[in-house]
Formats: sequence, structure tokens, C-alpha cells
Amino acid sequence: MTLRPLVAGDLDALVALDAATNPHPWSAGLWRDALNRDLGTGLTDPNGMLIGFTVASRVLDEAELQLIAVSPEHQRRGLGRHLLDTLLATLRHDGAVRLFLEVRVGNTAAQALYAQCGGEIVGRRKGYYDHGREDALLYTFTLNGEAQ
Ligand SMILES: CC(C)(COP(=O)(O)OP(=O)(O)OC[C@H]1O[C@@H](n2cnc3c(N)ncnc32)[C@H](O)[C@@H]1OP(=O)(O)O)[C@@H](O)C(=O)NCCC(=O)NCCS
Repeated sequence: MTLRPLVAGDLDALVALDAATNPHPWSAGLWRDALNRDLGTGLTDPNGMLIGFTVASRVLDEAELQLIAVSPEHQRRGLGRHLLDTLLATLRHDGAVRLFLEVRVGNTAAQALYAQCGGEIVGRRKGYYDHGREDALLYTFTLNGEAQ
């Protein structure tokens, strides 16, 4: 398995992988914007097929994880952890102070991954998803020095 930056040529594969893993997948337009703007890392199998990704945005000394996914047939093999640990190490190296993210309260798989990687719950946004139907938990990962 290889990690590499996401590129414009990944668009179709990203749209397909997002559709297979995300109940509310991004449109191709959103993906195009993200590829132009954000920090994207792809995970490929030995044939070069995209099987996972992270997309994060950086503003000053903070970063936000927008999306993380591993293809259903490759889940529970440590790849999500590898992707997130790599992102955290990259941000730490680049001097970011913290990474934060929002996750659906019902997404217990992702929450278990975030806890394993050192994430802490610092808040809850009521009715953040689906027009008020599901809350978000706010996670923070402290990277360099004191957070807050
Ligand atoms: C969340 C996701 C990226 C995890 O990827 P993964 O490669 O399966 O994760 P890992 O194999 O590295 O698992 C790391 C830990 O996370 C937890 N975990 C992962 N999947 C889990 C599941 N289905 N149920 C419970 N815990 C789970 C476990 O603690 C696991 O450690 P363990 O295998 O030693 O018990 C993957 O489930 C996914 O793509 N989900 C759909 C997209 C999504 O919800 N993304 C997050 C919001 S953007």
C-alpha cells in the first residue's frame, strides 16, 4: 500500500470511493474544489487503485479533517489508522497546533479510530447533520504545544 498526494486525475476514483463509504457523498464539483484547495492524501493498492484517502484544510496553525475513508473491502486492516497517523505526523511536522473534525454521533467506527489516534471530544453540535436530525461530536487532536 502506498501513500501519495491526491491529484486532479483521481477525481473519478474519489467520487466513486466517497459514494461507497459516505451516506452523503460530495458532488464532483465539491471534489474538484477540494483537490485545488485542500491537503489530500491517497492510499493505493499494489495495482495503483485508490483504496483510501484523507482530505484536510489548513488555516493558520489549525487544520480540519474534512473526510477520511477506506474502501469497504479494505477496512479493519489498520489502513484508516495509517492514513490518520500520517496526516497527524505531517501536520505536526509542518507546525500546526491542532487538528479538529466533526463526526456524526452514530459513526462509532470513526469515533473508535479517532480515540485510538489520540483524539479528544471537546464539544457537541446539536442537529448539525441532516437538517437537525443528527448531532455532531467535535474532536480535537493536539499536535504542537498547548492547544486552546
Ligand atoms: C472510519 C474508517 C476510515 C476506518 O478505517 P479502517 O481502515 O477500517 O480503520 P482501521 O482498520 O485502521 O481501524 C482502527 C480502529 O478503528 C476502530 N474501528 C474501525 N472500524 C470499526 C468498526 N467498523 N467498528 C468498530 N470500531 C472500528 C477500531 O478501534 C480499530 O482498531 P482495531 O481494528 O484494532 O479494533 C472506515 O470505517 C470508513 O471508511 N468509514 C466510512 C467513511 C467514514 O465514516 N469516515 C469518517 C467520517 S468522514
